[in-house]
Amino acid sequence: MHPHGNYLPGDKMRNLICENYLLLQVLSRFGIPLGFGDKTVEEVCRERGVDCRTFLAVVNFTLDGCCRMAGEGEEISVPSLMDYLQQSHHYFLDFYLPAIRRKLIEAIDCSSEHKIAWLILRFYDEYVGEVRKHMAYEDENVFPYVSALLRGERPPHYRIDTFARHHGAIEERLTELKNIIIQYYPEQEKNLLLNATLLDLFSCERELAQHCKVEDLLFVPAVASLERRSGQ
Ligand SMILES: [Fe+2]
Ligand SMILES: [Fe+2]
Repeated sequence: MHPHGNYLPGDKMRNLICENYLLLQVLSRFGIPLGFGDKTVEEVCRERGVDCRTFLAVVNFTLDGCCRMAGEGEEISVPSLMDYLQQSHHYFLDFYLPAIRRKLIEAIDCSSEHKIAWLILRFYDEYVGEVRKHMAYEDENVFPYVSALLRGERPPHYRIDTFARHHGAIEERLTELKNIIIQYYPEQEKNLLLNATLLDLFSCERELAQHCKVEDLLFVPAVASLERRSGQ
Protein backbone atom coordinates (compact mmCIF):
# COMPACT_ATOMS: atom_id res chain seq x y z
CA MET A 1 0.00 0.00 0.00
CA HIS A 2 1.11 3.50 -0.76
CA PRO A 3 -1.45 5.55 1.11
CA HIS A 4 0.25 8.86 0.41
CA GLY A 5 0.68 8.38 -3.27
CA ASN A 6 4.21 7.26 -3.83
CA TYR A 7 3.86 4.67 -6.53
CA LEU A 8 6.91 3.50 -8.41
CA PRO A 9 7.47 2.18 -11.96
CA GLY A 10 7.84 -1.40 -10.65
CA ASP A 11 4.45 -1.46 -8.89
CA LYS A 12 1.64 -3.55 -10.37
CA MET A 13 -0.81 -1.46 -12.33
CA ARG A 14 -3.74 -3.50 -11.04
CA ASN A 15 -2.81 -2.74 -7.40
CA LEU A 16 -2.61 0.93 -8.17
CA ILE A 17 -6.18 0.92 -9.54
CA CYS A 18 -7.69 -1.40 -6.95
CA GLU A 19 -6.24 0.65 -4.11
CA ASN A 20 -7.41 3.93 -5.65
CA TYR A 21 -10.37 3.50 -7.95
CA LEU A 22 -10.44 7.22 -8.74
CA LEU A 23 -7.31 6.64 -10.80
CA LEU A 24 -9.49 4.96 -13.42
CA GLN A 25 -10.11 8.44 -14.80
CA VAL A 26 -6.41 9.22 -14.98
CA LEU A 27 -5.82 5.93 -16.74
CA SER A 28 -8.40 6.53 -19.43
CA ARG A 29 -7.17 10.06 -20.09
CA PHE A 30 -3.69 8.74 -20.70
CA GLY A 31 -5.30 6.38 -23.22
CA ILE A 32 -4.47 3.26 -21.20
CA PRO A 33 -7.18 0.61 -21.53
CA LEU A 34 -7.98 -1.99 -18.90
CA GLY A 35 -6.87 -5.59 -19.18
CA PHE A 36 -3.25 -5.15 -18.11
CA GLY A 37 -3.10 -8.45 -16.23
CA ASP A 38 -0.14 -8.65 -13.90
CA LYS A 39 2.02 -6.05 -15.62
CA THR A 40 3.86 -3.27 -13.84
CA VAL A 41 3.20 0.42 -14.35
CA GLU A 42 6.39 0.71 -16.39
CA GLU A 43 5.48 -2.21 -18.67
CA VAL A 44 1.96 -0.97 -19.31
CA CYS A 45 3.21 2.56 -20.05
CA ARG A 46 5.87 1.29 -22.43
CA GLU A 47 3.34 -0.82 -24.31
CA ARG A 48 0.96 2.09 -24.66
CA GLY A 49 3.59 4.67 -25.56
CA VAL A 50 2.90 6.70 -22.42
CA ASP A 51 5.74 8.49 -20.62
CA CYS A 52 5.95 6.59 -17.33
CA ARG A 53 7.39 9.43 -15.26
CA THR A 54 4.65 11.81 -16.36
CA PHE A 55 1.99 9.20 -15.66
CA LEU A 56 3.35 8.58 -12.16
CA ALA A 57 3.75 12.29 -11.51
CA VAL A 58 0.03 12.81 -12.23
CA VAL A 59 -0.94 9.69 -10.25
CA ASN A 60 1.09 10.56 -7.17
CA PHE A 61 0.10 14.20 -7.37
CA THR A 62 -3.58 13.19 -7.50
CA LEU A 63 -3.26 10.84 -4.55
CA ASP A 64 -1.36 13.35 -2.49
CA GLY A 65 -4.42 15.56 -2.62
CA CYS A 66 -2.45 17.82 -4.92
CA CYS A 67 -0.26 19.12 -2.14
CA ARG A 68 2.98 17.77 -3.54
CA MET A 69 5.47 20.54 -4.04
CA ALA A 70 6.01 21.67 -7.58
CA GLY A 71 9.52 21.45 -8.93
CA GLU A 72 9.26 18.21 -10.86
CA GLY A 73 9.20 20.27 -14.01
CA GLU A 74 12.45 18.79 -15.23
CA GLU A 75 11.24 15.20 -15.06
CA ILE A 76 7.90 15.57 -16.75
CA SER A 77 7.38 15.09 -20.46
CA VAL A 78 5.56 18.23 -21.58
CA PRO A 79 4.01 16.60 -24.69
CA SER A 80 2.64 13.71 -22.58
CA LEU A 81 1.20 16.00 -19.95
CA MET A 82 -0.31 18.28 -22.58
CA ASP A 83 -1.87 15.30 -24.27
CA TYR A 84 -3.33 14.25 -20.93
CA LEU A 85 -4.79 17.72 -20.35
CA GLN A 86 -6.30 17.80 -23.85
CA GLN A 87 -7.87 14.40 -23.32
CA SER A 88 -9.25 15.65 -20.02
CA HIS A 89 -10.90 18.61 -21.77
CA HIS A 90 -12.43 16.25 -24.29
CA TYR A 91 -13.68 14.03 -21.46
CA PHE A 92 -15.31 16.88 -19.52
CA LEU A 93 -16.83 18.70 -22.49
CA ASP A 94 -17.90 15.83 -24.71
CA PHE A 95 -18.67 13.13 -22.20
CA TYR A 96 -19.01 13.96 -18.51
CA LEU A 97 -20.84 17.31 -18.57
CA PRO A 98 -23.38 16.25 -21.27
CA ALA A 99 -23.98 12.99 -19.38
CA ILE A 100 -24.71 14.91 -16.18
CA ARG A 101 -27.09 17.21 -18.10
CA ARG A 102 -29.07 14.25 -19.40
CA LYS A 103 -29.31 12.81 -15.91
CA LEU A 104 -30.30 16.17 -14.48
CA ILE A 105 -33.17 16.57 -16.98
CA GLU A 106 -34.43 13.15 -16.07
CA ALA A 107 -34.12 13.82 -12.35
CA ILE A 108 -35.77 17.22 -12.11
CA ASP A 109 -39.36 17.81 -13.05
CA CYS A 110 -39.23 20.21 -15.99
CA SER A 111 -42.85 19.55 -16.98
CA SER A 112 -44.53 21.10 -14.00
CA GLU A 113 -44.85 24.53 -12.50
CA HIS A 114 -41.54 24.11 -10.68
CA LYS A 115 -39.63 27.18 -11.70
CA ILE A 116 -36.69 25.85 -9.74
CA ALA A 117 -36.22 23.02 -12.27
CA TRP A 118 -35.69 25.49 -15.10
CA LEU A 119 -33.47 27.58 -12.92
CA ILE A 120 -31.29 24.59 -12.15
CA LEU A 121 -31.00 23.69 -15.83
CA ARG A 122 -30.20 27.25 -16.83
CA PHE A 123 -27.60 27.49 -14.11
CA TYR A 124 -26.07 24.25 -15.26
CA ASP A 125 -25.90 25.38 -18.89
CA GLU A 126 -24.30 28.67 -17.91
CA TYR A 127 -21.79 26.78 -15.86
CA VAL A 128 -20.94 24.44 -18.75
CA GLY A 129 -20.58 27.51 -20.98
CA GLU A 130 -17.96 28.87 -18.60
CA VAL A 131 -16.06 25.60 -18.48
CA ARG A 132 -16.14 25.48 -22.28
CA LYS A 133 -14.74 29.01 -22.52
CA HIS A 134 -12.03 28.27 -19.97
CA MET A 135 -10.92 25.12 -21.78
CA ALA A 136 -11.20 26.67 -25.25
CA TYR A 137 -8.75 29.36 -24.17
CA GLU A 138 -6.25 26.69 -23.18
CA ASP A 139 -6.87 24.63 -26.34
CA GLU A 140 -6.60 27.64 -28.64
CA ASN A 141 -3.88 29.67 -26.95
CA VAL A 142 -1.86 27.85 -24.34
CA PHE A 143 -1.40 24.45 -25.99
CA PRO A 144 -0.49 25.88 -29.44
CA TYR A 145 2.07 28.13 -27.73
CA VAL A 146 3.61 25.15 -25.93
CA SER A 147 3.59 23.11 -29.17
CA ALA A 148 5.50 25.92 -30.88
CA LEU A 149 8.05 25.91 -28.03
CA LEU A 150 8.43 22.15 -28.43
CA ARG A 151 9.10 22.61 -32.15
CA GLY A 152 11.98 24.88 -31.16
CA GLU A 153 10.22 28.14 -31.99
CA ARG A 154 10.26 31.15 -29.69
CA PRO A 155 6.85 32.74 -30.03
CA PRO A 156 6.87 36.45 -29.20
CA HIS A 157 4.37 38.13 -26.88
CA TYR A 158 3.48 35.12 -24.78
CA ARG A 159 4.83 33.39 -21.71
CA ILE A 160 3.35 30.59 -19.61
CA ASP A 161 3.46 33.03 -16.74
CA THR A 162 0.74 35.09 -18.47
CA PHE A 163 -1.51 32.04 -18.39
CA ALA A 164 -0.59 31.15 -14.79
CA ARG A 165 -1.52 34.63 -13.54
CA HIS A 166 -5.00 34.54 -15.08
CA HIS A 167 -5.85 30.92 -14.56
CA GLY A 168 -9.04 30.99 -12.49
CA ALA A 169 -10.91 28.24 -10.73
CA ILE A 170 -13.81 26.84 -12.73
CA GLU A 171 -15.61 24.80 -10.15
CA GLU A 172 -17.06 27.65 -8.10
CA ARG A 173 -20.34 27.94 -10.02
CA LEU A 174 -20.80 24.23 -9.68
CA THR A 175 -20.64 24.61 -5.93
CA GLU A 176 -23.44 27.19 -6.14
CA LEU A 177 -25.52 24.89 -8.30
CA LYS A 178 -25.17 22.06 -5.82
CA ASN A 179 -26.25 24.38 -3.05
CA ILE A 180 -29.39 25.43 -4.96
CA ILE A 181 -30.37 21.80 -5.43
CA ILE A 182 -29.59 20.81 -1.87
CA GLN A 183 -31.31 23.74 -0.25
CA TYR A 184 -34.24 24.59 -2.50
CA TYR A 185 -35.32 21.71 -4.65
CA PRO A 186 -38.82 20.67 -3.56
CA GLU A 187 -39.41 17.21 -2.21
CA GLN A 188 -40.66 14.62 -4.67
CA GLU A 189 -40.49 10.93 -5.42
CA LYS A 190 -37.60 10.99 -7.88
CA ASN A 191 -35.09 11.59 -5.14
CA LEU A 192 -32.96 8.56 -5.99
CA LEU A 193 -32.03 9.89 -9.38
CA LEU A 194 -31.55 13.43 -8.14
CA ASN A 195 -29.24 12.18 -5.42
CA ALA A 196 -27.25 10.17 -7.95
CA THR A 197 -26.94 13.28 -10.11
CA LEU A 198 -25.79 15.27 -7.12
CA LEU A 199 -23.10 12.68 -6.51
CA ASP A 200 -21.96 13.19 -10.10
CA LEU A 201 -21.83 16.93 -9.53
CA PHE A 202 -19.67 16.38 -6.46
CA SER A 203 -17.26 14.14 -8.39
CA CYS A 204 -17.19 16.54 -11.31
CA GLU A 205 -16.33 19.39 -8.97
CA ARG A 206 -13.53 17.40 -7.45
CA GLU A 207 -12.15 16.29 -10.80
CA LEU A 208 -12.21 19.82 -12.20
CA ALA A 209 -10.38 21.15 -9.16
CA GLN A 210 -7.81 18.42 -9.59
CA HIS A 211 -7.48 19.22 -13.31
CA CYS A 212 -6.77 22.86 -12.53
CA LYS A 213 -4.18 21.93 -9.94
CA VAL A 214 -2.38 19.67 -12.40
CA GLU A 215 -2.24 22.67 -14.72
CA ASP A 216 -1.04 25.07 -12.04
CA LEU A 217 1.41 22.87 -10.18
CA LEU A 218 2.69 20.39 -12.77
CA PHE A 219 2.11 21.83 -16.23
CA VAL A 220 3.06 25.47 -15.63
CA PRO A 221 6.40 24.63 -13.90
CA ALA A 222 7.23 22.08 -16.61
CA VAL A 223 6.57 24.63 -19.37
CA ALA A 224 8.48 27.31 -17.46
CA SER A 225 11.51 25.06 -17.34
CA LEU A 226 11.08 24.34 -21.07
CA GLU A 227 11.06 28.10 -21.65
CA ARG A 228 14.28 28.48 -19.70
CA ARG A 229 15.96 25.69 -21.64
CA SER A 230 14.91 27.12 -24.98
CA GLY A 231 15.98 30.65 -24.07
CA GLN A 232 12.43 31.95 -24.36
FE1 LIG B 1 -7.64 22.71 -18.59
FE1 LIG C 1 -7.55 25.34 -16.67
